[in-house]
Amino acid sequence: IVSLWEYVAGWASHFSPVSYFLCSGQHLITAVADHLFGLKTTSWELGRFRSVIELDSPSVTAEQVAAIEQSVNEKIRDRLPVNVQELSLDDPEVEQVRGRGLPGDHAGPIRVVTIKGIDSNMCCGTHVSNLSDLQVIKILGTEKGKKNKTNLLFLAGNRVLKWMERSHGTEKALTAMLKCGAEDHVEAVKKLQNTTKLLQKNNLNLLRDLAVHIAHSLRNSPDWGGVVVLHRKEGDSEFMNIIANEIGSEETLLFLTVGDEKGAGLFLLAGPAEAVETVGPRVAEILEGKGAGKNGRFQGKATKMSRRAEAQVLLQDYVSTQSAEE
Ligand SMILES: *[C@@H]1O[C@H](CO)[C@@H](O)[C@H](O)[C@H]1NC(C)=O
Ligand SMILES: *[C@@H]1O[C@H](CO)[C@@H](O)[C@H](O)[C@H]1NC(C)=O
Ligand SMILES: *[C@@H]1O[C@H](CO)[C@@H](O)[C@H](O)[C@H]1NC(C)=O
Repeated sequence: IVSLWEYVAGWASHFSPVSYFLCSGQHLITAVADHLFGLKTTSWELGRFRSVIELDSPSVTAEQVAAIEQSVNEKIRDRLPVNVQELSLDDPEVEQVRGRGLPGDHAGPIRVVTIKGIDSNMCCGTHVSNLSDLQVIKILGTEKGKKNKTNLLFLAGNRVLKWMERSHGTEKALTAMLKCGAEDHVEAVKKLQNTTKLLQKNNLNLLRDLAVHIAHSLRNSPDWGGVVVLHRKEGDSEFMNIIANEIGSEETLLFLTVGDEKGAGLFLLAGPAEAVETVGPRVAEILEGKGAGKNGRFQGKATKMSRRAEAQVLLQDYVSTQSAEE
């Protein structure tokens, strides 16, 4: 009848009640997976929410998972007793335990944990005294593990209830946000993702077209030949580069910014190479950002868009000094 052996060193008694539920849960699943399908447990991790058992197999089928879950819950309903026995080191039975992996230098009493009628040789911490204490085990599913291993995710006891409570909360929130029942949540999110993708694509096309138009109107600006400034909240690096490319100015200093007027954003300077090289780093400094560039382009990130006017004054001063020198 006594078919399961384990040794557990003295520290095991310090396990919290929470982990001892999980230990027994792990123990039971390990034993059943081995018994039904010869799936050996190679390691496990008892987590705060869900726990994981690593099985020594590249795959575990859904049918196997269902059979394991059914069997462990049957044993819980059968209220199988769990016995814990302490053996001293000179007990002849210790030899059997030693054969199952007791470290040679182990000292102190040895704990032997037995679940009636279940065979396993894995070991763990403290256990429940009766499998009925486990209440229920839910196997959530499998995930690909390390090389040729499969991880089995499970919940035991009270955590099943906690998980359900949490899942229900999430489901309720999603139902309110997506305005459809739980069975349609995934489809609704897919639809939203599709819509977002389409909108992003349209937005990008519009920004591109807009950039071309802006470039043409800037060419007719009264500031042409001096410093031309443009800020637009919506936009990105590509938007600014399209404008700069369209203008292709050698004689005008172009100062473009996108992003939050009072917060962070991006900037781009374009124009005569020497001018851009000189003022670029200073503009980056004023905007409390960073940038880099070459060949008449300097661009970067800014954290203080609110100081744009200061940067503009710097550029205008630079241009007027240059023209005075000429
Ligand atoms: C296990 O616990 C249940 C519920 O407390 C009890 O009815 C049953 O007799 C126990 N079984 C054994 C073998 O101790
Ligand atoms: C995984 O299993 C396959 C098939 O049994 C074997 O060929 C392969 O060498 C194994 N890989 C590792 C990393 O053990
Ligand atoms: C989302 O887009 C994909 C690919 O275009 C399409 O196959 C799928 O049916 C769409 N899904 C929904 C829910 O609109």
